[in-house]
Amino acid sequence: MSMMRTRCDQTAAWGQLQKAFQGDAGRFDLQTGFATDPQRFERFSQDAPHVFADLSKNLITHDVEVLLLTLARQCGVEVYRDAMFQGEKINNTEQRSVQHFLLRNPLDPLLNKAPSAIKNIANDMAMVHATRDAMLAYAEQVRADDRITDVVNIGIGGSDLGPQMAVLALDQFVMPGKRFHFVSNVDGDELAQVLAQIEPRSTLFLIASKTFTTPETMTNATSAKHWFEAQGGVDVARHFCALTTEVEKARAFGITTTFGFWDWVGGRYSLWSSIGLSIALAIGAQGFHDLLSGAHEMDAHFRLAPLERNLPVRLGMLDVWYRNFHGFSSRCVAPYSHALRRLPAYLQQLEMESNGKRVDQAGQLLPFGTSPVVWGEPGTNGQHAFFQLLHQGTDVIPLEFIAVKAAAHKMPGHQEKLLVNALAQAQALMNGRTDPGGHRDFPGNRPSTFLLLDQLDPASLGALIALYEHRVFVSGAIWGIDSFDQWGVELGKVLAKDLEPRLASGDLLGIDGSTAGLLNRIRT
Ligand code: F6P
Repeated sequence: MSMMRTRCDQTAAWGQLQKAFQGDAGRFDLQTGFATDPQRFERFSQDAPHVFADLSKNLITHDVEVLLLTLARQCGVEVYRDAMFQGEKINNTEQRSVQHFLLRNPLDPLLNKAPSAIKNIANDMAMVHATRDAMLAYAEQVRADDRITDVVNIGIGGSDLGPQMAVLALDQFVMPGKRFHFVSNVDGDELAQVLAQIEPRSTLFLIASKTFTTPETMTNATSAKHWFEAQGGVDVARHFCALTTEVEKARAFGITTTFGFWDWVGGRYSLWSSIGLSIALAIGAQGFHDLLSGAHEMDAHFRLAPLERNLPVRLGMLDVWYRNFHGFSSRCVAPYSHALRRLPAYLQQLEMESNGKRVDQAGQLLPFGTSPVVWGEPGTNGQHAFFQLLHQGTDVIPLEFIAVKAAAHKMPGHQEKLLVNALAQAQALMNGRTDPGGHRDFPGNRPSTFLLLDQLDPASLGALIALYEHRVFVSGAIWGIDSFDQWGVELGKVLAKDLEPRLASGDLLGIDGSTAGLLNRIRT
């Protein structure tokens, strides 16, 4: 696999981009760009499935984009993408294929006639569809059961953020009469607050964990089960359901109602699998199918569109341009949509757990930066908080607006105000305002991207999420890293395991002074 990939700094295009940046491209001025190119908006905006994107307020020229796409080709992004879609083990540090896209593939009878490399995919597809059919049938059965009023998803990371973000985003499609709760933190406050609102006989607990070993989830699951039994709850099979690749471990825990998935689905890519049961319960089987089909449309776009009009590729290459040439180390995401309020948190895991790496696939230390810090809050709230820094701070932070044309509500005047605020902020960032030497001076030339959905529904949400997944794939491919492992989370887990008995016993032997001091302080 590594044969197909060339790390960005080993390509000719990398040097050409450096040269371009040191020349005019590094001093590009957005207002001049629009003044000298009446086609700039058309050139740098495009439709992709369910998403319209305006990239024209970014610090790029046509020539730079041509070079960036040359870089993508020289790094083998297309070959690497096709390898993923053919089920090759591109997650090489874990020796796994990366096939979350299969979870949203419609059944294709032609696959069975395909060459042997694809045959494995055909087998996987059959498993995917059988499991999904069973899960969706179960979801419909629970939806029809009026006695279940509360669904509590217990999971963390990818087993929480994706489902929670999607259920909130699709609130207008959520069936009345059922409440959805998400518990992730091992801080007992979170579980306690949910337990205080529910009754054992009317609750369904979903224990969502790919590995079924994550300490936070297992602690919360154990406490939930104890609470259920202590409150006189009976019939664990009806009130607890496990979503995991480790069905046997779930059984050993005492849960017999289970829906599985496979090791080729990364945690942060798992909302399309049985981990998404809470979404299916909320929006129904048809809604879940629509979510998958929107994502599948984006998969097809990523696979087939020429790089020049391939939105995940253009966005991923822009990320590389900003990170490695401009040196911007952070990107802000501002959904102008209350429904999308958990999207920034979801994207933090997707992007930073995938591309927050400092060695390439061969384990060599990288001489350039990788994932930016991704952060954000919904607009317009952010405008009255941190946008000050975006407009007048010392750092340039590219901002990503995500707006939805049609409102889900009928409150007069709100949607118009929301949308013009997004437009005005993007304008202000770009155009600035001159007040030489004064506090009211806005430097302008601050880049932003504008993503626009016609409406927020299961299909457009699916497409939007898949767009981000593939964008992360593209920049990770350029940087030559494994975007599908997460070794960086291991060490803290091991150390916490070591500290837990020490907290009980007071044994401080062999630990550093600060940790020993704090542990002592906590104990006394
Ligand atoms: O510790 C990080 C991580 O492994 C994430 O990658 C994952 O989404 C999360 O923990 C939860 O893991 P699991 O679904 O196995 O409980």
